[in-house]
Amino acid sequence: MENIKTGFHPPMGWNSWNTFTWDINEDLIKQVADVFVEEGYKDAGYEYIVIDDCWSLKQRDENGNLVADPEKFPSGMKALADYIHSKGLKFGMYSCAGTHTCAGYPGSFEYEFQDAKQFASWGVDYLKYDYCYKPRAMDGELLYRRMALALKNSGRDILFSACNWGEDHVHDWIRSAGAHMYRSTGDIQDNWDSIKRLANSQMDKAPFTGNFCHNDMDMLVVGMRGGSNNDFIGTIGGCTDTEYKTHFALWCMMGSPLMIGCDIRKADAMTKRILMNKNFIAINQDDEARGFYVLHPEPQWLTDSGCFILVKVLADGDLAIGFFNLGEGQRGIPLQFWDLGLSTASGEMLSLYDCWEEKELGVFKGQYHVVVPSHDCVILRGKIVPND
Ligand code: GAL
Repeated sequence: MENIKTGFHPPMGWNSWNTFTWDINEDLIKQVADVFVEEGYKDAGYEYIVIDDCWSLKQRDENGNLVADPEKFPSGMKALADYIHSKGLKFGMYSCAGTHTCAGYPGSFEYEFQDAKQFASWGVDYLKYDYCYKPRAMDGELLYRRMALALKNSGRDILFSACNWGEDHVHDWIRSAGAHMYRSTGDIQDNWDSIKRLANSQMDKAPFTGNFCHNDMDMLVVGMRGGSNNDFIGTIGGCTDTEYKTHFALWCMMGSPLMIGCDIRKADAMTKRILMNKNFIAINQDDEARGFYVLHPEPQWLTDSGCFILVKVLADGDLAIGFFNLGEGQRGIPLQFWDLGLSTASGEMLSLYDCWEEKELGVFKGQYHVVVPSHDCVILRGKIVPND
């Protein structure tokens, strides 16, 4: 999917952190770029390849510049960027608003303009900006404003991905500070409880997402299957296929950036089917990037047991409708069409398409009822059909 302008759609790509943490090097990054092209990720819309924490030396050089670790990146960052660009992809890197990154490497505090120029000279297209070791007396908003300004004036078009874990009421100020996406949650872990917790935490955040500044629910764990060398992310590692599918559907319906976190060199067929589901991706990448609204199905015990419906109004007038059952046990979830704005009197109907099964379900009037297994979801695309 062509980006009209940087940050217009929720960014899509891959990030090294979830699986590899400190164990990164240029061969790995190049292989990910190759896989993006050869296995269809690029065609599906994924474009940014992002190196997270642990890429630099622990000290700046005598001129105060950040230095790529020559053991991990012997050819240097410019050469790596060139390789990624030669594949028609974009290159992302990572720094931090504090004095140090979370893993203890130099942060950009008080070096914002210098580092932004450095990233631009390497050919960086995306900067993830973390929140560790922020001097207590400094205001986070100011530091994100600073880096946003530095990037905008770096001479290169660089997407700004803010990462302050949803703290300090970030949704109130991050769009005007200049970020293109911002973490609206804490860190994800490769387990179902984490996915559920992050999704539930976003129910009141929908009004804040939109073109040029997207709510970021953190990187995807789809396909990780417990394979992380990070103790935090890998705790109680792994999800079922159904849970990974529901995770991806939630991130798509909620408009989150889609940053893959698994080792895509080893992705199995189900992982690819989920990550490259074109119908889910089309909902996520819809041009108007509207936040979802939530319908809590009656009766109350259905809602209490983890069932809800997310609806997203799409640019062409269609509705994306996601029936989610995050609870235990199979449930029937009813949808009344008047809750979508359809009028009973004039009797408009909905032509429904199942985005996972990839099949037309037919034309329905008044209501639709779907049975959703535990931890699963049903994602439909509805087209309004006049009653004549
Ligand atoms: C965390 C951040 C993670 C990852 C990590 C690197 O603060 O939320 O996504 O970037 O730091 O140390």
